[in-house]
Amino acid sequence: SRTPIMAGNWKMNLDHVAATSLVQDLGEALKAAGYDSAKSEAVVIPPFTDIRTVATIIDGDKLPIAYGAQDISAHDDGAYTGEVSGTMLSKLGCSYVVVGHSERREYHSESDELVNAKAKKAIENGMTPIICCGEALEVRKAGKHVEHTVGQIKADLDGIPAEQVAKLVIAYEPIWAIGTGETATADDAQEVCQAIREAVKELYDAPTAEAVRIQYGGSVKPANVAEIMAKPDVDGALVGGASLKAGDFSKIVTFY
Ligand code: 13P
Repeated sequence: SRTPIMAGNWKMNLDHVAATSLVQDLGEALKAAGYDSAKSEAVVIPPFTDIRTVATIIDGDKLPIAYGAQDISAHDDGAYTGEVSGTMLSKLGCSYVVVGHSERREYHSESDELVNAKAKKAIENGMTPIICCGEALEVRKAGKHVEHTVGQIKADLDGIPAEQVAKLVIAYEPIWAIGTGETATADDAQEVCQAIREAVKELYDAPTAEAVRIQYGGSVKPANVAEIMAKPDVDGALVGGASLKAGDFSKIVTFY
């Protein structure tokens, strides 16, 4: 009963002109593929500077695509140069906000405490956080990937009530599989997604664990999406590189 969610994280790619073409092409590709929004939810996550443009096209052409942001400030407003607030994003029509992407944890020293505050800020502003987690290569080699990832999620969900957790999205992205062409196997994805769901059950209850959607991310492509999506605890994909090509992303969205 969980609707799969396929989200394209554009990262720091495409200016607003290129974004216009991509979202228009994606709309056409989905239509040509006979996309059925009951079978999967299509989401694009452009850079902040493209959101207004993307929103205008999606709303104007009534495209069956939701959109969101790659980050959110933990603050409401005021003297926070360079930050973008939850109010600003929700007023642009964002439905989703990615929080705690490994690139922000690594290059901007984001802690679980900050990720937790950002997730709460997204919820406060009526948006759904996509909370990212996942281990580095050394952690996996040490066999501690489940423990590490579940630990992140427990900290990231701290103080978020069950009814909100049931509606949010968790993205398991092993860092060693991001942008490397090295995909985790479907069994690797399932192992950790299942462990995350178990942890949600322990922290909350069975209905909350059954409702929360858990994505896999890391080198997802048209060629490997079906196998990954066949796993019972994988409810979608967070896609980087392949989301920059309308044809590829359309194939991923219509994996079913
Ligand atoms: P790639 O699909 O390029 O590996 O990126 C995954 C990712 O980090 C999505 O957030």
